[in-house]
Amino acid sequence: MDDAREELGRRLSHIEAMGGPQRVARQHESGKWTARERVRYLLDEDSFEEIGAHVTHRGTLFGMADVDAPADGVITGYGRIHGRPVYVFAQDFTVLGGSLGEMHAAKIQRVQDLALKSGVPIIGLNDSGGARIQEGVDALNGYGEIFKRNTWASGVIPQITVVMGPSAGGAVYSPALTDVIVMVRHTAQMFITGPQVIQAVTGEQVSAEALGGADTHLKRSGVAHFVGKNDAEALDVVREVLSFLPQNWMEEPPVYETQDPLGRADPMLAEVVPSDPNKPYDVLAIIERVVDDSRFVEWQKGYADNLVVGFGRIGGHSVGIVANQPRILAGTLDINASDKLARFVRFCDAFNIPVVTLVDTPGYLPGTAQEYGGIIRHGAKVLYAYAEATVPKVTVILRKAYGGAYLAMCSRALGADLVLAWPTAEIAVMGPEGAANIIFRREIEASPNPQEAKARMADEYRRQFANPYVAASRGYIDAVIDPVRTREHLAQSLMVLYNKHDERPKKRHGNMPV
Ligand code: HXC
Repeated sequence: MDDAREELGRRLSHIEAMGGPQRVARQHESGKWTARERVRYLLDEDSFEEIGAHVTHRGTLFGMADVDAPADGVITGYGRIHGRPVYVFAQDFTVLGGSLGEMHAAKIQRVQDLALKSGVPIIGLNDSGGARIQEGVDALNGYGEIFKRNTWASGVIPQITVVMGPSAGGAVYSPALTDVIVMVRHTAQMFITGPQVIQAVTGEQVSAEALGGADTHLKRSGVAHFVGKNDAEALDVVREVLSFLPQNWMEEPPVYETQDPLGRADPMLAEVVPSDPNKPYDVLAIIERVVDDSRFVEWQKGYADNLVVGFGRIGGHSVGIVANQPRILAGTLDINASDKLARFVRFCDAFNIPVVTLVDTPGYLPGTAQEYGGIIRHGAKVLYAYAEATVPKVTVILRKAYGGAYLAMCSRALGADLVLAWPTAEIAVMGPEGAANIIFRREIEASPNPQEAKARMADEYRRQFANPYVAASRGYIDAVIDPVRTREHLAQSLMVLYNKHDERPKKRHGNMPV
């Protein structure tokens, strides 16, 4: 028995040593933790249980028969985060560059299968040279099996990816199929074709960082949802995001105790929206005053900032918040904001998280760039996502809600359960100036002072229509509320909706515009 235990100990310490001290030192020199350090940091203390530690490759070609690859370059297992179980895999760059061969892929598929069967979130820590070149088509097949499982698990369990090193070629598609991508600044890169191939094919010169670094994907492509300045910060994001989520689609998100009173009135809320309807303001000032302890976790901050999305809690319950941002592009909806909104609302809906929508938008962004770019099909995603969602939906119209954007931003017609409005709300087919130009065109042209006439007519239109009371008189708005008591009204609205049950017609699946 002692011999057998000694043999086990010897094998485990060999596996624990990963690619050996030199490669571990190189990993540290490049500012990265090893896969084992990352897993230990991510999970609750001492909760990691490794599975598949003894698995290794079966490659024979290109000298692989003699290659020692502890754990085949990926650490897999399970543990806890905030006391709740999660599955995890972490690619080990110190072993064959974390490259994915047949058995490496099989280990990832194994934890995907277990996570899906048990209704437990899965977190992937990616740091890999991609398909293991020596294993050829077996490596490619391994990726395909992972993509399939990513897709099957979508909407069943939360899937979170942290890109902590290179992620190149088709390998980027496993992260892209998951719900959340966190990238580490300066060490993570994602691209389909790298700088050399791009230069050879198109002549363009670009660095790996500019092409696929964390900030590129956070701010330009919209591929990443969060960026951490180092491994620790990126892993902290995962822990925080999970705290808002249920374990799977059939469970409710966890409820946290809060000392923040639900009835907390905030006089500053009466000051945030300027009396001049054309003046911008920062909608984050409203969000932070409404959620518990002012804690708002913003998603895709830096991308399509004319729309803000993210998680907070009200009365300890998770809520997804969607808000137009009047500070940027006047809060108009454009292609990127539409994509951002639709994906977030669908994520909330998949995982039983109520959606609160704060509206202040003059409409969809006009222009040829938007029309040629397909604002019709992108904007339609917003309508689709809201109308499809069956979670509690509460809308607060803060100021402008004009035209199609009034409808799109979770109006009563699209299925909002409760629609509240501030007294500053203006609900109309279009803004007063535009409307006056059209319906009073003859009067304006006939006037000796057209500018003055136009302003007067716009004022008249505003007095008649640009307020919440016409919409409230038709029942499109359920209550006009005092802004200072917004938190209390939201808490009450959500409380009465928690047991909401809503069905959609049975079908194979919808065909959302993409
Ligand atoms: C086998 C690989 C490997 C790979 C790296 N290594 N990538 N081994 N297959 N794909 C090995 C290296 O030989 C080296 O081994 C160790 O990992 C570290 O690599 P270095 O090159 O020394 O590290 P670094 O300088 O940091 O560069 C990292 C890198 C580079 C940028 C990732 O290694 C690289 O460009 N690799 C190839 C990337 C790639 O083209 N992959 C295929 C993508 S296509 P030693 O023994 O020296 O430590 C793809 C298709 C998926 O993935 C399709 C899905 C549908």
